[in-house]
This record gives sequence, structure tokens and C-alpha cells, in this order.
Amino acid sequence: EPSKVNVLLRVNGNEHQLMVDSRTTLLDALRERLHLTGTKKGCDQGQCGACTVIVDGRRITSCLTLAVMQEGHDITTIEGIGTPNNLHPMQTAFIKHDGYQCGFCTPGQICSAVAMLDEAKAGIPSHVTADLTRPIKMSTDEFRERMSGNLCRCGAYSNIQEAITEVAGKIL
Ligand code: FES
Ligand code: FES
Repeated sequence: EPSKVNVLLRVNGNEHQLMVDSRTTLLDALRERLHLTGTKKGCDQGQCGACTVIVDGRRITSCLTLAVMQEGHDITTIEGIGTPNNLHPMQTAFIKHDGYQCGFCTPGQICSAVAMLDEAKAGIPSHVTADLTRPIKMSTDEFRERMSGNLCRCGAYSNIQEAITEVAGKIL
């Protein structure tokens, strides 16, 4: 018999007190309890990145963490990144470069990309760049490695890369 627990989640700056099954994933709490359905459920096993959200500035797969573990943390979902009337530059770039086809992977790609550029800017190395004195422009290998957690079944990778690279060029 699963136990019910109270959890206070801070999502996109708003606090929500929820009573959840202790085994509820953050992904299910976001989608089913808070109705933030921009975060997608693909594999539900940490393999596809569709459920990527940003917690305290770092990207995580929300299907692999329990809601109760995220109490007290700052959670940002795609709904907190930008809105149709106030798009984030990464969203604008995805539109400009056709960085999606079916769009299912897109919220996760965008959350991941926003956090990824912050990681790169902060000098957090990827596996293919141990060298922190790397040039400003990210290599294709480094880019692929940093975005490797986000799959796209439609194969829109080159357009996704163009979109993210454009934003990277402005902030890195
Ligand atoms: Fe979480 Fe696929 S749904 S990684
Ligand atoms: Fe369809 Fe990426 S645009 S899965």
C-alpha cells in the first residue's frame, strides 16, 4: 500500500502544496497534478529527454526523480521558460530554424538547451572537452555530447543544432 505524503513544489516561481503517493515522479506530479503538460512523457525511463526540466539551474529528467525529492528546489518547466506572447530567445530560434517536426521532443530540447548553455558558460566541462580554455565556439562533437540526452524521433537534429548554435553565438 503506497503511502501518501505532503510535498511543497515550487514550479516557475509558484508554490503548490500537494498530497501525493510517495512514489509519484516529478514528471507525473507536473503533468497530472499541476496540469503543466508541456513537459512530455516519452520513455518514462530516463532514455529520451522529453521530460527534461530545470532544477536549481541544472537539467534533469523529471521521470527519474520523485516529486518528494524536489521539495524546496526551484523547478522550471517549459511553461516557465517563455509564453506565446513572450518567447524565450531559444524558442524564437527554434521557430526560425524549424527546430521541430512533430514537436514532441521540443519542450525537453529547449529546457535542456537553455541549461546546457548556462553549463557551458559556467565552464562546466562536457565529456569531450576537458579543456576549459576552449574557444568560444562549441565544436560539433561537444555540442552533440552536451545534447545527447535529448532524442528526436523525427530526426530534426540539424535544425535543432542550428537553432541552439544561433543562441549560443549570442551568449557564450
Ligand atoms: Fe523521461 Fe524519457 S520520459 S527521459
Ligand atoms: Fe518529433 Fe523531435 S520533433 S520527436
